[in-house]
Amino acid sequence: MAKTIAKQELTEVSEAQIAVHWKEEEYYQPAEKFKAQANMRDPRIFDQFGLDRFPDCFKAYADMLTWFEPYRTVLDTSDAPFWKWFAGGKINASYNCVDRHLDKYKSKAAFIFVPEPEKEPDVTITYQELYDRVNEVAVLLRGVGLKAGDRVTFHMPMVPELPITMLACARLGIIHSQVFGGFSGQACGSRIQDSGSRVLITMDSYWRNGSLVDHKVNADIAVKTAKDLGQDVDKVLVWQRYPGRYSAKTPMVSGRDFFVNDLLKDYKGKKVDPAALPSEAPLFLMYSSGTTGKPKGAQHGIAGYLAYVTATSQWILDIHPEDIYWCMADIGWITGHSYIVYGPLASAATSVLYEGVPTFPDAGRPWRIAERLGVNIFHTAPTAIRMLRKLGPQEPRKYKYHFKSMTTVGEPIEPEAWRWYYDEVGKREAVITDTWWMTETGGFLATTMPAIHPMKPGSCGPAAPGIHPVIYDETGAEVAKGSGKAGNICIRNPWPGIMQTIWGDRDRYVKTYFSKYNKNPKSKDWRDWPFLCGDGAVQAADGYYRILGRIDDVINVAGHRLGTKEIESACLTVPEIAEAAVVPVQDEVKGRVPEVYVALKPGVPPTQDVIDRVIKANEEVIGKIARPKHVYIVPDMPKTRSGKIMRRVLAAISNRRDVGDVTTLANPDVVEQIRVMVQGKDTTTTHEALPEDIAKFGQVE
Ligand code: WTA
Repeated sequence: MAKTIAKQELTEVSEAQIAVHWKEEEYYQPAEKFKAQANMRDPRIFDQFGLDRFPDCFKAYADMLTWFEPYRTVLDTSDAPFWKWFAGGKINASYNCVDRHLDKYKSKAAFIFVPEPEKEPDVTITYQELYDRVNEVAVLLRGVGLKAGDRVTFHMPMVPELPITMLACARLGIIHSQVFGGFSGQACGSRIQDSGSRVLITMDSYWRNGSLVDHKVNADIAVKTAKDLGQDVDKVLVWQRYPGRYSAKTPMVSGRDFFVNDLLKDYKGKKVDPAALPSEAPLFLMYSSGTTGKPKGAQHGIAGYLAYVTATSQWILDIHPEDIYWCMADIGWITGHSYIVYGPLASAATSVLYEGVPTFPDAGRPWRIAERLGVNIFHTAPTAIRMLRKLGPQEPRKYKYHFKSMTTVGEPIEPEAWRWYYDEVGKREAVITDTWWMTETGGFLATTMPAIHPMKPGSCGPAAPGIHPVIYDETGAEVAKGSGKAGNICIRNPWPGIMQTIWGDRDRYVKTYFSKYNKNPKSKDWRDWPFLCGDGAVQAADGYYRILGRIDDVINVAGHRLGTKEIESACLTVPEIAEAAVVPVQDEVKGRVPEVYVALKPGVPPTQDVIDRVIKANEEVIGKIARPKHVYIVPDMPKTRSGKIMRRVLAAISNRRDVGDVTTLANPDVVEQIRVMVQGKDTTTTHEALPEDIAKFGQVE
């Protein structure tokens, strides 16, 4: 027994402290040609953004914007940790993204929309057209009674009408809350309720993997869900995928649903001045998952956010107005808000907007688009990279595009996938930035500065200018750089892109992001408020960070955050289910996928029908991205004597690993039964260590 305990302690030490993902990699240098043209190539920038120059260093970011009235204070900490950036100024995001470019760039494309069906022509929207359309929609929104400070929920697909409507809101100070189009009607409804929106803006249909999806049906479910939760929606504004023609089967509800294209007829050519809004007025909400079952609305303010995404678009993505930039993310996620809409437009970019699936109709599609449009900056996620590699490893060679720079975001990228991205997609010419950040942070936290730092596959790089990370262990002691030890990565200082609060829940904001390492809740000094990012990380001796994944029981599926509790409560909507536990499983393409274990109420027989309904419940409550890979009906959950479900044991079984010593559980026998059910009679475990996010899964309570 003594021997077992010693061994177990050892395993725990190594799991918690030693990063075992992949070995240290060699460096790759940026091409001279890239360096010669880069927006930011002066390494002294990191001195200029040293902690001793904080917060004034960020004036340089504010200077990239056009102000109606100058700000008075760079960083107001009087309501710490609710930071107010560039306080006292007056500004408008829509003006900065559109109006101010008209003099120089009015005939230049702001967006090139590429529909999924390959035979449909691209739609180019110049800055002048963008200006006209944003104005018309803004006047329309004012016409339906919306005003500064109101919230409006969008449930839109990847079409130009989405950024147009976002910018129309921004023009008037209306706070937009775009829910990812792939989320279910119910998920949209609960976000409508949380934000208190009385207007929902959607589209009748959109193309996805070769079919025209009826999307209007989700609006009806969303409105009903919101109503059941106590929030009335007065109006549903429906864009038409094909203007003038309704292409959904779901009927319109008279008096509630209106076609935007019909309403717009009254506003043709109308203009409205951009409102001069306070720097710290909210710009948008973006809901994201965390430890509890309730998604949180990250609230981003105008000036700080816009300054941060603009500067990082220019310095890190290296966007120049002459470039053709394509980010394949969906605008429904923070990446799309920051690096398809606000950052690139404020930088006068030409941004490609693609409606559909990257592999439709085949794995050559992205490269055909890149060749045809002359894309030279490309931005995507590891899941898409792995998928394109799997389906068409040689496809990029067939097309004559040339990227100068490429970005990856959303998940750790394994060195093997990184090298394919570099060799084949980037043709050994393009630099890669692996940008690590999150919904709450508005923009990049750690990444290489592409003309300054060499790249190292599997590591995102050092911190972005003015971002000062620190890794703490559980006790609050700093983990030394180069020690090879993992810990919780935090940012020592606020930065302009940081969220302002969780919409309607100040306490949750403080608790989630600060309380773990804050020692003085009354302090007005930013030094007392390190920001807990929610990831485990290791810092190598060269200063580069390797991100190990979430520490808060969030499963990162194909780069999308899904909360364990959200999935489990979706399962529990099936009346036969007594208990549900979800665990992350390693997946070759999506990084992680959820696998679900359920225990049935007494007397209920285990049937395929129950399994099917659990799957359907996840699709309905959350969306197709939450579809579990497997659902196992188990006789009982492995539990501690105090009744806590041991998700870690289930995660070990699902990931074909040794479950370790389970003799202290209340029901150790059930573990072997479950193991046989999942893995078959023979042991099929591997001894490779589990990645930290899975090894530590289920520890948060
Ligand atoms: C993960 C997406 C490794 C991380 C911008 C983070 C990454 C979560 C990277 C945020 C990266 C994001 N390397 N992991 N380059 N980028 N992540 O809020 O776990 O959708 O906490 O924001 O994605 O996801 P979110």
